[in-house]
Amino acid sequence: MALERTLSIIKPDAVAKNVIGEIYARFEKAGLKVIAAKQKQLSRAEAEGFYAVHKERPFFKALVDFMISGPVMIQVLEGEGAILKNRELMGATNPKEAAPGTIRADFADSIDANAVHGSDAAETAAVEIAYFFAATEIHSR
Ligand code: TYD
Repeated sequence: MALERTLSIIKPDAVAKNVIGEIYARFEKAGLKVIAAKQKQLSRAEAEGFYAVHKERPFFKALVDFMISGPVMIQVLEGEGAILKNRELMGATNPKEAAPGTIRADFADSIDANAVHGSDAAETAAVEIAYFFAATEIHSR
């Protein structure tokens, strides 16, 4: 497996539930390192740009409204097979379908307020990391 980086966002619902630390513990126990992090209130334009791939979908406006409803915690995770490993830790998009013990099964309430984001492929990870972090803010170790 290759050493990879992926972008993770702890969404406003999970930040409001005060479970940033519990989610970080899951990353660390799975061998993923937090190599960059910032807490941020996204602007509407930032959220729309981040989810631009979904702009024609019926849920786009609700998704953007949700993503700007409170601060998010944004991090870069690094580790062997980090992209898939993080997706496995997250669980399915709809928490009702998420496997027991996954972040979404344990902390998410609904498909639109589903606790976490994680890049789904190497190309999107590179774009998403650059969307939020300068190279000087990332500390590989
Ligand atoms: P998607 O990229 O399909 O899922 P994932 O976050 O698991 O990669 O969708 C992005 C976000 O859009 C998803 O986390 C929540 C929201 N969404 C909805 O609100 N309703 C939907 O039907 C879908 C598919 C997504």
